[in-house]
Amino acid sequence: MIQSWPDHLLLVGCGNMAGQMLSRWLDCGLDPARVTVLRPSGRPVADGVAVVTDYPDALPAGTTVLLGMKPYQIAAVAAALAPLCAADTRIVSILAGTTLADLRARFSAARDIVRAMPNLPVGLGEGVTALFTDAATATQAKADVAALIEPLGLVEWIADEALFNQVTALSGCGPAFLFRFIDALARAGEAIGIPADQAARMALATVQGSADMAARAADSPGVLADKVASPGGMTREGLNVLDADDRLLALLTDTLAAARDRGEAMARGA
Ligand SMILES: NC(=O)c1ccc[n+]([C@@H]2O[C@H](COP(=O)([O-])OP(=O)(O)OC[C@H]3O[C@@H](n4cnc5c(N)ncnc54)[C@H](OP(=O)(O)O)[C@@H]3O)[C@@H](O)[C@H]2O)c1
Repeated sequence: MIQSWPDHLLLVGCGNMAGQMLSRWLDCGLDPARVTVLRPSGRPVADGVAVVTDYPDALPAGTTVLLGMKPYQIAAVAAALAPLCAADTRIVSILAGTTLADLRARFSAARDIVRAMPNLPVGLGEGVTALFTDAATATQAKADVAALIEPLGLVEWIADEALFNQVTALSGCGPAFLFRFIDALARAGEAIGIPADQAARMALATVQGSADMAARAADSPGVLADKVASPGGMTREGLNVLDADDRLLALLTDTLAAARDRGEAMARGA
């Protein structure tokens, strides 16, 4: 799928998120011999992937480093990793709330530094990853990082780093909100009399099928909703409840705003 994988990929941390990214890359043909995972537990990751518990003496030329540990660990990680970095070391950080300026200050030898905000479906190649970098990163490096991320799903470059918390609220936190929606749809079905197990299966399949349909449709989801609702019919009657006073929109705006605000508070150390 991807024409030119990085010569060498070092994952610093390989938990829920970085693990999903690596799993997809391996599924798409990344040679495990090109990958090293650094994780304190030393737990194996996948056949052929080297796992280490401490930093190597040197990084192979042109290594791409994926920072995939927790954001609060950046100081300790940078103290050990920065001395190994050269101008051709590429850094991709998925650390929520860690700014590009902070990364540049910590990894001053590296020219190409990209922030990425993936979400969990990247493991299926159906994720969303927001990317941000600045003018110091070479154009070729931007293209190479985008090519690395593309097998994970949708890639969106963000023009303004200040929007990272908003983007994280939408697509980073979004899977949890959608899980909640699916569960609520199922429980609402149960509340009006459908057996619970059936309602659960039907709610999930309805959301999955509708998302697939919306992705293929020429019309936007907003237009589709109205197109499938005949005047005076059942769907319209239900939509009227969701639409009254923009109830659903207001609920989701409040939800994203709360997640965004928490991101901003965490960035201030709260
Ligand atoms: N989860 C999400 O949905 C999501 C979405 C977007 C971005 N992120 C970002 O992804 C990062 C990781 O989150 P996560 O949910 O994947 O966390 P996680 O599952 O707890 O994984 C953390 C990883 O960091 C490793 N680690 C711990 N201490 C370390 C150290 N001192 N040096 C190097 N590695 C260390 C852990 O090693 P062991 O495996 O050996 O314990 C583990 O592999 C965070 O920065 C978060 O902001 C997460």
